[in-house]
Amino acid sequence: MNPFQPGAGLLPGYMGHRPAIERPLVDIVDRLRSGQKGPRLAYLYGPRGNGKTVLLQWLADQVEKKGGAHPIVQVRLLPEHLTSSEMLVQRIRSAVRRTPGVFDNLTVNLEAGIPGVSLKVGSEARDDPMLGLSDWLEQDRYPVLFSLDEAHEADPVVLGRLLNAVQLAGQDRPVGAILAGTPGLLDTLAGSRASFWSRGEKLAVGLLPDGEARAVLARPFLDAGLEASADSICELARAADDYPYFLQLYGAAAWDAVKATGASEIGLEHVTAAIDATSVPRRKYYRERYEEFRKANALPLARDVALAFTEADRPMTDVRLDKLLARHAEDPAEMRALLNAKGFVWQDDDDHWTPGIPSLMGYMIGRTEPEHESNRDWPDADRDGAGGRGA
Ligand SMILES: Nc1ncnc2c1ncn2[C@@H]1O[C@H](COP(=O)(O)OP(=O)(O)OP(=O)(O)O)[C@@H](O)[C@H]1O
Ligand SMILES: [Mg+2]
Repeated sequence: MNPFQPGAGLLPGYMGHRPAIERPLVDIVDRLRSGQKGPRLAYLYGPRGNGKTVLLQWLADQVEKKGGAHPIVQVRLLPEHLTSSEMLVQRIRSAVRRTPGVFDNLTVNLEAGIPGVSLKVGSEARDDPMLGLSDWLEQDRYPVLFSLDEAHEADPVVLGRLLNAVQLAGQDRPVGAILAGTPGLLDTLAGSRASFWSRGEKLAVGLLPDGEARAVLARPFLDAGLEASADSICELARAADDYPYFLQLYGAAAWDAVKATGASEIGLEHVTAAIDATSVPRRKYYRERYEEFRKANALPLARDVALAFTEADRPMTDVRLDKLLARHAEDPAEMRALLNAKGFVWQDDDDHWTPGIPSLMGYMIGRTEPEHESNRDWPDADRDGAGGRGA
């Protein structure tokens, strides 16, 4: 079976590690597990396809694997689960049921519903998902870890209530929340009216470090008893720009190419075959990002930004980016928020602006060429039916 997992949120055959992100997450879990009271908040933010959902999944697995004296109730949420009390309560209930030690202790209570929450549901809390939540957190002493994926899409007011509930409950019990979303998450949080949010851990999820990107490609081959030449792995990692989603996409195609030829190692010919074989899905992926800007009537903006990054070939300061944005609007703030929300460019820990998906810049430039030059460089898969060569 192909060990690579191009897609959304699927744990790959080998997960590339980023200790600076993983350590604080594990630290939160360890504190919860030890029963140490206090609210723990962390935010994973980064452009699409960099592995935020994978990190949430990885952390959930760590929590389950470790067991321990204080079982942690993991409540995994999406923004839609915060739109009504019923939905939130249902998520909490099923989380409680899935947690071994807690289930035993709550058998009786489960019959009548979880204390606090069940009393509120259907009455005045119907339109206020967070009222019931605060009550439940106060009455039940187990460590609870909420995770909310795609959190940038959540209603900021409701998000604020979730954070408030966690903050309040944290005064006398172990409770944590880990939110993940595009770089726009930080803007969503800023609008949440929960002023303490910024004291949580802000963890930027960017490209993988080069060595880890190569390991992501090589390890599944090595683990299967195949050879992986340094040349071919470097070439593949370079083509993918160390971008996690493309590492999986290329890796999967290279695996298929090796298997198809019955070779005992991945060589440069498989790399070429993988790059060719993935041109259509890559283009489709780029095109989705392109459409986001087309819908927002912001293609000229995206083009200018892509051109500036390609010409300078280095990160940009706030001042430089704002100067560029001022060509498109009097107030650059809205433009900056748009670019950031889409993760087209974003600020990682260095405070500098960099492209979210490096190879998207070339596509965007080609695709927005006034004379449609792009159609030659990037033949449209849907139009010519064959799919063109990638970057
Ligand atoms: N650390 C990693 N090592 C190897 N591959 C990874 C890693 N993280 C993510 N991937 C791969 O990258 C792809 C995207 O991962 P994921 O869905 O977690 O990204 P995301 O940041 O949540 O994206 P989105 O913002 O679109 O939800 C998946 O194919 C996944 O297998
Ligand atoms: Mg995701």
